[in-house]
Amino acid sequence: MDKKNGMEWGSPAIDYGLCTKCGLCAKICPSFTISMEDGRPTVRHKGQFGCLACGQCVSVCSADAVRVTGRRMKKEDAFRLSPEGGRATADTLTALLEARRSMRHYEDRPLPREVIDKLLAMAATAPMGFPPSDVGVVVINGKARVQEFASDICAAMKKWMFLASPAGTIMMKFIMDKTTAGMMKDFVLPLAGEIIKARHEGRDWLFYNAPCVIIFHYPMKDTVDPAIACSYATIAAEALGLGSCIIGTVAPALAGDKKLKGKWGIPDAAYPSLAMIAGYPDVHYTRGVRRSFSSVQYR
Ligand SMILES: Cc1cc2nc3c(=O)[nH]c(=O)nc-3n(C[C@H](O)[C@H](O)[C@H](O)COP(=O)(O)O)c2cc1C
Repeated sequence: MDKKNGMEWGSPAIDYGLCTKCGLCAKICPSFTISMEDGRPTVRHKGQFGCLACGQCVSVCSADAVRVTGRRMKKEDAFRLSPEGGRATADTLTALLEARRSMRHYEDRPLPREVIDKLLAMAATAPMGFPPSDVGVVVINGKARVQEFASDICAAMKKWMFLASPAGTIMMKFIMDKTTAGMMKDFVLPLAGEIIKARHEGRDWLFYNAPCVIIFHYPMKDTVDPAIACSYATIAAEALGLGSCIIGTVAPALAGDKKLKGKWGIPDAAYPSLAMIAGYPDVHYTRGVRRSFSSVQYR
């Protein structure tokens, strides 16, 4: 295994029997590990990181002459893509994206394991800052387990409610910046209060009685990779005929609670990010709503 700075390098291998020496693998390699030497692609690790095992060289080689192993990539991970005519077009993808809405009403029907596996395989195509993905996933499947998790999260949320008191408001000024404290006071705490109240009254405003919750976590704080993976998962859910909804309140409730993280399989050193609920939708939409960014500037 090649290593630098304790980091494993990927190992590109070129089958010169198949290689047409077109040079595309060298042209596309973002880490300059492959370059053309004496008219043929040559592997030479350079720079800080060596081969990242991003697999761009594998993907671009029409002669199927390149394989990369290492950094969790295996030879068998290379596969032929669907022909271009068999892929989503801008129109079909737009139709799918427009149809996705946050689903808060689910059929009382379990989500089969193979459907979740397929959803995760689709979400795992999400880009990551640095291959291989460090996003971890915890699947809580089955309504009873999800409700147990909801009770645990609500119990954890209850601990925040102290912050809504006058003493808590003063404390927030010291431990949070002004924007976060304002967000806590005006949005997070009132929302948590409503979720807890609803639970007491027998309504699930946290997971909406969904049969499955998927939590995305990451070894570093405030990293967007798990949020990107979660976004992909919502699109995958739509394509699989499922309803889904991103749940942002799980992460802060879990974050400071080692015991709870341990109980639900989130590694001690990991930071929970977004969660997503999924299940068979109990309502179906016929109209979209036009959406736009708050501003778009071309400069
Ligand atoms: C980061 C993030 C956190 C969210 N958290 C919650 C949540 O905790 N509960 C909920 O019901 N919806 C949650 N949502 C869903 C949004 O409310 C929803 O996406 C928004 O209202 C737009 O509606 P649509 O998804 O149907 O287009 C979240 C969405 C995002 C992007």
